[in-house]
Amino acid sequence: MDRRTPANSNPRIGVFGATGLVGRELLSILIERSVEADTIRAFASERSAGTSVAAGGAHWPVERFVASEADSIDLAFLATGSELSLELAPCLLAAGATVIDCSSAFRGDPEVPLVIPEINGHLLASDPAPRLVASPNCSTTIALMAVEPIRRAAGIRRMTVCTYQAVSGAGAAALEGLDRELRDHADGELPKPAHFSSPCLFNVFSHESAVDERGENQEELKIRAESRRIWNDADVAIAATCVRVPTRRAHAEAINLTLERPLSAAEAREILASVDGLVLFDREPGTRAPEPRDAEGRDEVLVGRVRADCSQPEGLGLWLFAVGDQLRKGAALNAIQIAERCLESIPLLSVESARDRVHR
Ligand SMILES: NC(=O)c1ccc[n+]([C@@H]2O[C@H](COP(=O)([O-])OP(=O)(O)OC[C@H]3O[C@@H](n4cnc5c(N)ncnc54)[C@H](OP(=O)(O)O)[C@@H]3O)[C@@H](O)[C@H]2O)c1
Repeated sequence: MDRRTPANSNPRIGVFGATGLVGRELLSILIERSVEADTIRAFASERSAGTSVAAGGAHWPVERFVASEADSIDLAFLATGSELSLELAPCLLAAGATVIDCSSAFRGDPEVPLVIPEINGHLLASDPAPRLVASPNCSTTIALMAVEPIRRAAGIRRMTVCTYQAVSGAGAAALEGLDRELRDHADGELPKPAHFSSPCLFNVFSHESAVDERGENQEELKIRAESRRIWNDADVAIAATCVRVPTRRAHAEAINLTLERPLSAAEAREILASVDGLVLFDREPGTRAPEPRDAEGRDEVLVGRVRADCSQPEGLGLWLFAVGDQLRKGAALNAIQIAERCLESIPLLSVESARDRVHR
């Protein structure tokens, strides 16, 4: 049987980790953007199978994935942990699916493109089209979205990033932990750690990921390694300090740049104001800078506090403050934008029945 369908067939989409924060955002954005699909199925762990998840104005029945049914998926979004991505991706790829992975599992794999479509989307136009694509770490995506227009105009010699990362960046359980701390506080108890090793409430702490022998944590290493890959520049100097703050959603990042060629703050503002996917928030110095609450639920990265770094030679030093919803552009939206670019070239398997169709 010829399993290829006409080019205009819609894909059968699977969202893995659908009950999680990124998974629910994936379902919502698929609906918001009216991504054409034959079916959209929501997969999660055995714990959630048989329940439903509310997202995008619909209730999605949650299924447990069975590997023998992998050929019922044409396009898979993986929003589970990296260990599970390492299991799921080969199985789905072998059955013919295109896989977009939101975890860190494949971000360092030279065979797998690591893509922010606005920056290196050309990697998705290769022939044959990539069947496995990694979406970058959320802090990396937010920083690079803000810095890319400056890089194109003036080149980047060095970038330092200090993050103020929302609790939801660590998943649904972390957010539940913050809510528990809030309830304890309302009951008159002192904040004690409910999810991380330090309390979130009334506190900030160094990012919880493992610290290596040089003292850098994994989030800081990811920002350097992934930025260099996405920019295809192994030499650019990058350093980060990553910190968790008690906001619920949207990461903020203070970014300091050393440029290759002079660019004034006024020129930088003009460039940043003209780019799709970015909003120059405080157009006039002294007006309110972007805050996480401004970015919640928005697709764009908000940029502000664009100013010269007076400690560097005239025109070569620049500060930016970027804020982005890490569940959207930092994860789900970026993954869907990758898929939208890939969709035309996805070889679709035949649609044998409408039994899996989800009513929405
Ligand atoms: N949160 C962010 O801001 C963010 C940003 C960028 C990338 N990411 C990455 O995106 C991925 C998902 O993150 P998240 O924040 O959405 O995590 P989360 O809220 O903890 O959700 C995890 C999801 O994985 C499912 N899962 C866990 N164990 C499973 C198993 N054994 N089999 C099948 N499904 C299983 C969970 O299902 P159950 O509900 O059934 O347990 C849930 O749907 C992670 O790799 C993360 O690093 C997250």
